[in-house]
Amino acid sequence: MADGAVIITGASRGIGAALSIELDRRGFTVAGLSRTGDPPLGCQDPSRFLLRQCDATDEQQLRDSFAWVAEQAGGIQCLVNNAGLHTNSKSQDLERADFERVMEINVTAVMLGCREIFPHFETNGGIIFNMGSSFGWIGAPYNLAYCTSKAALGGMTRVLAAEWAKYNIRALNIAPGYIETDLNKDFLESDKVKKLLSERIPTGGPGKAEDVAKLVAALLVEDIPFMTGSTIYLDGGQTFAH
Ligand SMILES: NC(=O)c1ccc[n+]([C@@H]2O[C@H](COP(=O)([O-])OP(=O)(O)OC[C@H]3O[C@@H](n4cnc5c(N)ncnc54)[C@H](OP(=O)(O)O)[C@@H]3O)[C@@H](O)[C@H]2O)c1
Repeated sequence: MADGAVIITGASRGIGAALSIELDRRGFTVAGLSRTGDPPLGCQDPSRFLLRQCDATDEQQLRDSFAWVAEQAGGIQCLVNNAGLHTNSKSQDLERADFERVMEINVTAVMLGCREIFPHFETNGGIIFNMGSSFGWIGAPYNLAYCTSKAALGGMTRVLAAEWAKYNIRALNIAPGYIETDLNKDFLESDKVKKLLSERIPTGGPGKAEDVAKLVAALLVEDIPFMTGSTIYLDGGQTFAH
């Protein structure tokens, strides 16, 4: 495994913040990118993190940010393409602009992140985690844009795994189910939804950002060379339950 920083896009809140805090706790140098450049929400000491404003949909900002992190930390060992957006709409009412906005951050930004990290990984290898979703598999009504975008990440991850294994670059697609964050706070707060999810999710309800953080941290720490291209579900058993 190469040395250097772990870069996390969308590190200021939610899953990205929890992952930043978990990896810092485990001794990794964490570089948190977000549009605000804010420290991970809930962290005790912002000075422990390399922080930078970066819109993940902007390839120049990604390029500059990765170069800055590499210089600050002496290299990069891992990229977590985590920044993402969720919208709801009846499929027949979905506006083209709204569909494209979701694809821009959930898919295009991930492609750009992978492309721009390649020069940093080409010689010594590295690992990429793409933040997919169980909705990349499930056909969830009113989620056409989101489900389409997350399904795309499964394909993108498999291609990168196949193409870049010879550079010792691995790519994994993390597919969480319902996780309580700002992304879905309003939705999950409704009593009707709480009841529905307590019945649908075998473990009894949504997971926490810390659950996703622990999974990614464990996969990073264990460094399993044979594991690449996989989609890993973390969903309380919901996705494949009947
Ligand atoms: N929560 C869930 O149930 C769930 C389930 C499955 C998958 N996921 C996926 O997990 C990822 C994180 O979700 P979350 O629930 O943690 O969301 P969240 O709480 O809304 O946080 C999103 C993060 O992304 C950043 N961000 C948004 N647009 C950005 C951009 N263009 N460039 C850089 N950063 C940007 C935000 O920071 P700024 O506003 O400061 O930029 C924030 O830090 C997403 O890809 C989401 O699809 C979430």
